[in-house]
Amino acid sequence: MARPDFVEVAKVDEVPVGRMKHIELNGKEIMIVNLDGKFYALNDRCSHTNAPLSMGHIQDSIITCPMHGARFDITTGKKVSDPKMPSFDIGSLPINMQKYMEYAGQLLSRIKTYDQDSYEVRVEGNSIKLRL
Ligand code: FES
Repeated sequence: MARPDFVEVAKVDEVPVGRMKHIELNGKEIMIVNLDGKFYALNDRCSHTNAPLSMGHIQDSIITCPMHGARFDITTGKKVSDPKMPSFDIGSLPINMQKYMEYAGQLLSRIKTYDQDSYEVRVEGNSIKLRL
């Protein structure tokens, strides 16, 4: 079976150095990242609980998820650290809210976080192209 062709998804000047762009292609949500002039493409839904990674923070080649702080290597999609749940004193919350927070914490602690899918990127002139 022939491999799919590369498809243009953005223009180079739409994704400045250090920035991200969310795109959708064939039903997938993908983020394009420009790291020092080289482009990468990863699944834009965090493998933990689906937050949009492109709303996260980039430092060096690592993106930190905006929801619970899982970190991924942009160049490979590999997870480099698990989510970190914020710790705070829930004792001052109403009892029903405390119960909800404990339940949510138990659920979140059982969710595994995997590597992010990554995709082939090709730059041709001012076009950023992907192959899924
Ligand atoms: S959704 Fe990304 S770390 Fe939880």
